[in-house]
Amino acid sequence: MKTRFLGEIEVSEIGMGCMAFSHGYGQIPAEEYSIEAIRNAQKHGCTLFDTAEVYSPGLSGIGHNERIVGKALRGVRDEVAIATKLFLGYGFGSVYDKVREHLEDSLERLQTDWVDIYYLHRTGGASVEKVAEAMGRLIDDGLIRGWGLSQVDVDVVRRAHSVTPLSAVQNIYSMVERDSERGVIPYCMENHIGFVPFSPIASGLLSGKITTETKFESYDDVRNWVPQLSKQNIAGNQPIVDLLKDYAAKKNATPAQISLAWMLHKYPNVVPIPGSKNKERIIENLDAAKVELTDAEFASLEESLSRCKVYGHRGFSR
Ligand SMILES: NC(=O)c1ccc[n+]([C@@H]2O[C@H](COP(=O)([O-])OP(=O)(O)OC[C@H]3O[C@@H](n4cnc5c(N)ncnc54)[C@H](OP(=O)(O)O)[C@@H]3O)[C@@H](O)[C@H]2O)c1
Repeated sequence: MKTRFLGEIEVSEIGMGCMAFSHGYGQIPAEEYSIEAIRNAQKHGCTLFDTAEVYSPGLSGIGHNERIVGKALRGVRDEVAIATKLFLGYGFGSVYDKVREHLEDSLERLQTDWVDIYYLHRTGGASVEKVAEAMGRLIDDGLIRGWGLSQVDVDVVRRAHSVTPLSAVQNIYSMVERDSERGVIPYCMENHIGFVPFSPIASGLLSGKITTETKFESYDDVRNWVPQLSKQNIAGNQPIVDLLKDYAAKKNATPAQISLAWMLHKYPNVVPIPGSKNKERIIENLDAAKVELTDAEFASLEESLSRCKVYGHRGFSR
């Protein structure tokens, strides 16, 4: 697969979101299945794997997902980039000591001596400047190669980047969540920062497989509150899904692949991390890198999209 840069870190132009093997989309697969799915993705050319310390069933407990990612990738550690994330919490002394404590626990679970991109999962707990300073020290210590922020606006990105240059910003971004286009992505492009869209398929909506009749799971399934996935908003967003289906038919691709190819065409610094707990769909999503939109196709898709109203908005608030 072709590669792109998150700061100085070279990765495949599509990465893999590993969260659903532990949290967020209902029933989790057996561990052996998840490990094999991650290994298959790596063999298929994926070199960026995204996890977080909090990804565990029901968000109770710590590290379920990091342990799976660690087991899956330990044999190919030098060939891949692992990104993980910390929540700082409140009521501690030195920010550096606290961040390092979280990092050391993650390193153990991931069975590695370094993390490629270490994200602050959400701001809060300490000023972003203090966190940036701590991350700079951890880079000097050789424990992380780069650092990032998640769900932030351009002002926070600017403040953090002026203390320790960022490798990546990970925000929600898809055809139906476009806030980052206004400030964050342009700033990242100008400043050699990678932009990593999470939920790039809008939690499944843009695959065209979700209908107003789809029942989500009752336990640990974010789709019950993702704004675009209420019954009413699924119906409202149908024109966007129909547009994707048209392009998919023309390009011999799938709607999910078109939605990923669209963002790859739009910005050179974007590296989406679609998430799936299904081996076939993981490969389908990685193969979106093979779907090339011409400039004319992209322009007409953009134009059609601009005429569709989006129903539901999450933004950076959650
Ligand atoms: N920084 C943050 O705060 C944050 C927040 C959320 C997520 N993330 C990261 O971003 C990654 C991706 O986010 P996400 O999982 O929410 O986003 P997503 O890829 O937009 O949505 C995942 C959902 O879409 C379905 N899906 C994916 N590909 C499909 C395809 N080709 N055809 C049909 N259905 C498909 C999946 O179902 P199946 O599993 O059944 O295929 C799953 O229900 C996560 O794994 C995590 O690493 C970060």
